Amino acid sequence: MNTYISASILGSDLSNLSSEIKKVEKSGIDMIHFDVMDGVFVPNISFGVPVLESIKKCTNLIFDVHLMIIEPFKFIKPFAEAGADIITFHAEANSNIIETIDLIHSFGIKAGLSIKPNTPLDTIVSYLEKLDMVLIMTVEPGFGGQGFIEATLEKISELRKIVTEKSLKLDIQVDGGINDKTAELVKNAGANNLVSGSYLFNAVDTVMAVSLLKN
Ligand code: DX5
Ligand code: ZN
Repeated sequence: MNTYISASILGSDLSNLSSEIKKVEKSGIDMIHFDVMDGVFVPNISFGVPVLESIKKCTNLIFDVHLMIIEPFKFIKPFAEAGADIITFHAEANSNIIETIDLIHSFGIKAGLSIKPNTPLDTIVSYLEKLDMVLIMTVEPGFGGQGFIEATLEKISELRKIVTEKSLKLDIQVDGGINDKTAELVKNAGANNLVSGSYLFNAVDTVMAVSLLKN
């Protein structure tokens, strides 16, 4: 199974965003992870549609948009039109899950559904057939640079088991506290898409960091 790396620009030097993107692009990452926070769903505010529109011009990489917002349904259209290739929203948010997945797909892009560390997998099992990706949060969403929560590993392996049993075409993404050590744990549990923010952007040798995450 191939491992894909999604670089979370929340962990980058935001005053040099285009050069930070160029730096990780050259190091063999697969996509850019774009964290959107509204200060309501999570206790932090990050960036939104105008920033996505601008940085789309810097790179041809896939844009993986992670919506940590209370009403994702309302913002699917603007993010899709700004250039999102994958939009992931939270099962704990206030939008209808089926309607939101269908709306994302209506723009011809991929749909992901995410759960926080304390949300059981059961909450999303009935939607798996409709999804392109599930994001298992491995920290409480809201901030970069936090420590990996080991208790999430069980959910990753449970999900991998279901995906294999049902022969689903679904990526399992993990986000939060991923570094060369925790990458090993999540890959063994069954994750194939790893978000990395602070580990990747703080690395002295980004090419080496990406290869350590992948292999
Ligand atoms: C946290 C964000 C993450 C964050 C990851 O709410 O969703 O994408 O940027 O950062 P690190 O890799 O530093 O934990
Ligand atoms: Zn994220």
